[in-house]
Amino acid sequence: MACAAGHFAKTFSADKIYTTDLSFNMLKTARDSMGFDMPVLSRGEFLPYLDEVFDLVGCRIAMHHFMSPCMFIYEAFRVLKNSGYFVLIDSVVDFEDAELNRLELIRDSTHRRSLRMEEIIALAEAEGFLLETAQVFLKRHDFDEWARRLNPSEEHYQSIVQAFLELSAKMKKELRLETEGDKVISYTDKKALFVFKKV
Ligand SMILES: C[S@@+](CC[C@H](N)C(=O)[O-])C[C@H]1O[C@@H](n2cnc3c(N)ncnc32)[C@H](O)[C@@H]1O
Repeated sequence: MACAAGHFAKTFSADKIYTTDLSFNMLKTARDSMGFDMPVLSRGEFLPYLDEVFDLVGCRIAMHHFMSPCMFIYEAFRVLKNSGYFVLIDSVVDFEDAELNRLELIRDSTHRRSLRMEEIIALAEAEGFLLETAQVFLKRHDFDEWARRLNPSEEHYQSIVQAFLELSAKMKKELRLETEGDKVISYTDKKALFVFKKV
């Protein structure tokens, strides 16, 4: 789900892989470069598939864009067969919640919200999923690569830099911010991997 160019989908070995994304161009890239020939243009929150048809639903680094993570998790549960797996990877936050989500939104207006791990687990458990594994890991971002990935104007880029430089000392420490004078070199955030089972 939200496959983009299909790199995460490619990590699974399966007889058939169905890819969805909100972006027609991404689905085309996934088809042309990775060979995924069953693309469906769709929001993660409204999956155009029948009930209980998949063995596994995977989604990596996309749920923070979704209008309603709750609807997406509902849909993941609905389309999975009994005993199927839901493998989710996304950015997660804890006390830096408000600040990091604000920074992400300055960079990318399509960012909605990275959730706390406990929120994701609670949403999935409320749907009926059983948590099999949850693992958090740190990801260091080369700042320029990250901040320029969406081709911002120079003014927009500088506003992202400024927002990081103006963080409190506590937040800079939490994000392991590396700077050289007024230049931001890197920051580090948290990603989490969840494996849920439909029971
Ligand atoms: C960072 S990319 C995902 C990368 C990909 N999953 C991977 O691991 O290689 C985020 C993707 O989410 C898609 N997207 C954003 N909002 C969406 C939504 N509500 N439903 C489905 N896809 C969405 C975007 O079009 C984009 O392709």
